[in-house]
Amino acid sequence: MKSCMVQGAKIVSTGSAIPSVKVSNEQMSSIVDTSDEWIFTRTGIKERRLLTAYGQSVTDLATKAALKAIKNISIDPSSIDLIILATSSPNDLFGSASKIQYQVGAVNAVAFDLTAACSGFVIGIVTAFQFISNGTYDNILVIGADVLSKWVDWSDRGTCILFGDAAGAVIIQSCNPNFNSILSFHLNTDGNYADYLSIAYKEQLNPHPILNLYQGSFKHISMNGKEVYKFAVSQVPLSIISCLNKIDMSIEDVDWLLLHQANERILMAVAEKLSISTHKIISNLSKYGNTSAASIPLALDEVVQLNKISRNDIIVIAGFGAGLTWGTIVLRW
Ligand code: UT7
Repeated sequence: MKSCMVQGAKIVSTGSAIPSVKVSNEQMSSIVDTSDEWIFTRTGIKERRLLTAYGQSVTDLATKAALKAIKNISIDPSSIDLIILATSSPNDLFGSASKIQYQVGAVNAVAFDLTAACSGFVIGIVTAFQFISNGTYDNILVIGADVLSKWVDWSDRGTCILFGDAAGAVIIQSCNPNFNSILSFHLNTDGNYADYLSIAYKEQLNPHPILNLYQGSFKHISMNGKEVYKFAVSQVPLSIISCLNKIDMSIEDVDWLLLHQANERILMAVAEKLSISTHKIISNLSKYGNTSAASIPLALDEVVQLNKISRNDIIVIAGFGAGLTWGTIVLRW
């Protein structure tokens, strides 16, 4: 990573939103052939939140999370320059970010969606960092939001027990380069394994009678859980180590490990590979399941609201998922 930083960047506020409807593992066992015991021991999940209200979409959750982040530092929404919505479950394929821009009153912001599944929030932060560090923008709202309940096959016990709906948001502001808090990042993609986790567009068998073109629709989430698990446990520690190496930091310097909340076993296995103490792991997936792009900002907002993080703490954030994509950011809080 070459650096020519005109200004530094720091996260100045967080916010999050979850749907009110809770679905426990016991309730899941009335939908598919599963049990609380199986789900909890294999994943660490106890319950998840689902956006069940008619007409509600990712935009509503994302807007709520964004408004909380805006309120937390009382920033005038008109001073936001850019909104990045990391989501893989937009309610408009042309993008949902512009609706959020309108709903939060960020009249001067340009807004776009970013699709990178569970790595979306990490890639969103890195994208925002580029715009700030090169001096283009001063105030950026990054949102990670997903409602995968709308894309799950509710008869597939291998996937439907994992996911929940949520949104999390942060505001990143420019600052003096000496106070820059995004110390390092490392991003990867390996499209060779894209089929391990996807929501694929399926064409109909019969083409249009005159134009001879095929139309179709998006189907459900399909996942090779075992391969995604192996990928996460092998690649995430490597990504974290190379990100720390770039800034001459070691695992001992890390105060908090905030991984994409996919599976408690993945969190523990990554921590074990890194020899990082388990009390440094931020985990809230027992309450929310895997909320995709929302999982990292949701967990971050929770620990910030609980005042668990102190000034100057080093937080390692790592996302991983479909694509396959994965990435790490080292933050000084
Ligand atoms: O956001 C990133 C995306 N995703 C992930 O990070 C997921 C990564 N993968 C995982 O977390 C795990 O692979 C899962 C939790 C999805 C599955 O755990 P596993 O230990 O890999 O289980 P498995 O798929 O190998 O299934 C073991 C057994 C199978 O039965 P047989 O063939 O051994 O008889 C499955 O049919 O468990 C069965 N099974 C279930 N049983 C009860 C699969 N899902 C369920 C279920 N309840 N929900």
